[in-house]
Amino acid sequence: MLRRPKVSIIGAGNVGATAAHWIAAKELADVVLVDVAEGIPQGKALDLLQSGPVEDFDVKVIGTNDYGPTENSDVVVITAGLPRKPGMSRDDLLKTNANIVTQVTQQVCKYSPNAILIVVSNPLDAMAYVAKKVSGFPRNRVIGMAGVLDSARFCTFVAEAAGVSVEDVHGFVYGGHGDTMVPMTRFCSVAGVPLEKFLSQEKIAQIVERAKNGGIEIVNYLKTGSAYYAPSASAVQMVEAIIKDKKRILPCAVWLEGEYGISNLFVGVLAKLGANGMEKVIELDLNETEKAGLHKSADAVKSLVNVLEGSAS
Ligand code: NAI
Ligand code: 2OP
Repeated sequence: MLRRPKVSIIGAGNVGATAAHWIAAKELADVVLVDVAEGIPQGKALDLLQSGPVEDFDVKVIGTNDYGPTENSDVVVITAGLPRKPGMSRDDLLKTNANIVTQVTQQVCKYSPNAILIVVSNPLDAMAYVAKKVSGFPRNRVIGMAGVLDSARFCTFVAEAAGVSVEDVHGFVYGGHGDTMVPMTRFCSVAGVPLEKFLSQEKIAQIVERAKNGGIEIVNYLKTGSAYYAPSASAVQMVEAIIKDKKRILPCAVWLEGEYGISNLFVGVLAKLGANGMEKVIELDLNETEKAGLHKSADAVKSLVNVLEGSAS
């Protein structure tokens, strides 16, 4: 029997609730919103459900504090955890969020052993590592969201500076979700035309820096939390690619097994997303500078994972 896809979102905070909003508005799936905070997921889910008659969408939206209703989810988006405050790095969140992601993943796997996990909680690449380790899922079913967001920020700034539509800007960011991320400017284009035709090297370098600091720029404005519109939209783009088996090529944090000379680590690279989750890692021919940037970023991810594993190296 055919049934509507089911997406559970763990963490009904800013990113989780806004992701639920995008999913419902796009009528992608029934949504289950889970949080430890009593009443919050229930209230937000009911409120969102009641926007259906106005916005003309018809999916179920449930809020809950337990995992029973998440049973047999097709995709689970993990946003549970603390967000950054001013003065905090993503890495400051490491141990607290590792404990939260561990508990959440155990519950998710118990009820949805076949789900595809999209991890959002920070520090992203390390939390994806935790989710993979705790779930024991194969690498196609644990994917981290960061590259879509970092790339969207990069493309937004390019479009603004070049005075062109964001719809014509294509570009992507490699590496971990942190200060070492690597915007791949050589592969960026405006309507297929290399970026240098539109912007000076100096301007491109400024945009690269701004994209790298895109998260903290928003934290400094908000003061009480971090970005959530673009992060949730980015996670939902990944959900949509999977649920609709679109075979989209998106920058995602994926568990590398030798690709780009990196193993046993989540690092952001281009990957194909479809019904089986992360279906293929796209390997590009990087130049020496790009390779060095990617490896430096992978080393930064590795040092976080070492902290989690209690290893000094
Ligand atoms: P938020 O504070 O608004 O929401 C987090 C929610 O998680 C809260 O409602 C909290 O009650 C819930 N939570 C805490 N422990 C839980 C548990 N054990 N089980 C279920 N729920 C639990 O934070 P926001 O802004 O939604 O961010 C969520 C996470 O996503 C943060 O770690 C943030 O740093 C990260 N993030 C990652 C991005 C990325 O690009 N990967 C982008 C934006 C945010
Ligand atoms: C961001 O980049 C905080 O990681 C989050 O906005």
